[in-house]
Amino acid sequence: MSLRINDIAPDFTAETSKGTISFHDWIGNGWGVLFSHPKNFTPVCTTELGAMAGLQDAFAARGVKVIGISVDPVESHERWKNDIRTATGFEVDYPLIGDKDLAVAKLYDMLPAGAGESSEGRTPADNATVRSVFVVGPDKKIKLILTYPMTTGRNFDEILRAIDSIQLTAKHQVATPANWKQGEDVIITAAVSNEDAIARFGSFDTVLPYLRKTKQPTA
Ligand code: BEZ
Repeated sequence: MSLRINDIAPDFTAETSKGTISFHDWIGNGWGVLFSHPKNFTPVCTTELGAMAGLQDAFAARGVKVIGISVDPVESHERWKNDIRTATGFEVDYPLIGDKDLAVAKLYDMLPAGAGESSEGRTPADNATVRSVFVVGPDKKIKLILTYPMTTGRNFDEILRAIDSIQLTAKHQVATPANWKQGEDVIITAAVSNEDAIARFGSFDTVLPYLRKTKQPTA
């Protein structure tokens, strides 16, 4: 069965460009983003890993560690970093898992539908992970899952935006509306009564009986 939001993110130990990492221990008390790319030395992937490198400080500022994965060996990741720097200007300093035996790819259901479940039954193309993203919280539960096709590079600002929303919800019992960005009004969840809402947020607007908005809490 595939992984779902609120499942415990499967733990694993893997070889990475920063040495051996045990996933849950590596996340520690913070947050983690595990993201896969299909293949080293390919065009879209090169732009994606550079984009993530450019945002690594923004993820760190939110208490989020980033780790990439593909089925390429760690030595290949090391060689590819030069190309990523040349193409994007960014140095990849987050760990990259070399998942040669597809162990993590299978654990996280990152392989496309194809020629069966065993690596023997798959062609090299089937063995490439799709573009998956898993956001994992300090409780080691999966908070967000994204899956993109091979030919569509991801929007890494959107991952940050979603993390901002998820972290706000974890702290303040608020949700965020469509296209919300940091600093914009938020939605008070149904779990909070009007009385509680006044106590917590000071004031709010009732747009509809089930849609109450308030300023983004800052503390
Ligand atoms: C790419 O990164 O450009 C790519 C990788 C695998 C399949 C298709 C495209």
